[in-house]
Amino acid sequence: MKHLISSEQFTADLLHELFVLADQMKSHPRDFDDVLKHKVVATLFYEPSTRTRLSFESAVQRLGAKLISTENAREMSSAIKGENILDSIRVVQGYCDAIILRHYENDAARKATEVARVPVINAGGGTGEHPTQALLDLYTIHSFKKRISGTKVAVLGDLKNGRTIHSLLKGLALYSDIEVYGLSRKGLELPDEYIHYLKDRGITYHALSSLEDIPVFVDVLYHTRTQTERMNGEQAGSGEIIIDQAAMNRFSDQSLLMHPLPRNQEIAQELDSDPRAIYFRQSENGLFIRMALLYLLLGATVGR
Ligand code: NCD
Repeated sequence: MKHLISSEQFTADLLHELFVLADQMKSHPRDFDDVLKHKVVATLFYEPSTRTRLSFESAVQRLGAKLISTENAREMSSAIKGENILDSIRVVQGYCDAIILRHYENDAARKATEVARVPVINAGGGTGEHPTQALLDLYTIHSFKKRISGTKVAVLGDLKNGRTIHSLLKGLALYSDIEVYGLSRKGLELPDEYIHYLKDRGITYHALSSLEDIPVFVDVLYHTRTQTERMNGEQAGSGEIIIDQAAMNRFSDQSLLMHPLPRNQEIAQELDSDPRAIYFRQSENGLFIRMALLYLLLGATVGR
């Protein structure tokens, strides 16, 4: 794997290798202090981000690489002067050994690979995919459950525009015996292409109409915010799904509550102290799995 554009590139073996490496990086961070010390990594972000950008930037520095960065590329880079993304990539790749790209277009990272000689990592593209979020989500499920095969996962919220959901489902499809339940408000249902993707891999997608329909022994509840910024002035329909303590009480003490963050009102803050609410630990895992990914994509050329 040279670039990471979509969760479709993952295999269960590759994920396992990344999980083992991320565990080592978590337990022995000093061992990896300077493994990428001659590398320079660029973060090029055309959309807002806190977690993804900062965890990548922290990962770069913890591996001893150097960082160049534009956090606000849509307004602050030559994009405002009319430069197209491919010209920007052609230029930036001349300054670095890898490009981490977040863009408002679904296809920007894939297009970037057509002109980039250095690895390109998709750090979130429009309403399409966010494969490194799927990595940290799968790593988190694996860390807590000690397995991914055989899990029952309910995805909630904006299933239409939520790129984290799309990449997570493609990742889950690599494992056996997965059950997926989906619950969204009207108009924000999971697009057919993802339902078919699961079906083609033997996974039935159960579209539900209320929280009460989710099995009590579900392993993971994965909630997401409504992506209002992608709705071009349309209103999200009524019926937002809110998980509060009363809703969570229905589920087993083994049911994990996850969220890619940022959260709005869809998860009540009263749940933050519930041991099943693991979204902050989930986001912490982003650092280690992104370190593992960078090491894998760039480490092979260390010292050359
Ligand atoms: C997500 C994203 O950017 O898609 N955030 C993140 O990377 N953790 C989710 C979101 O913005 O709702």
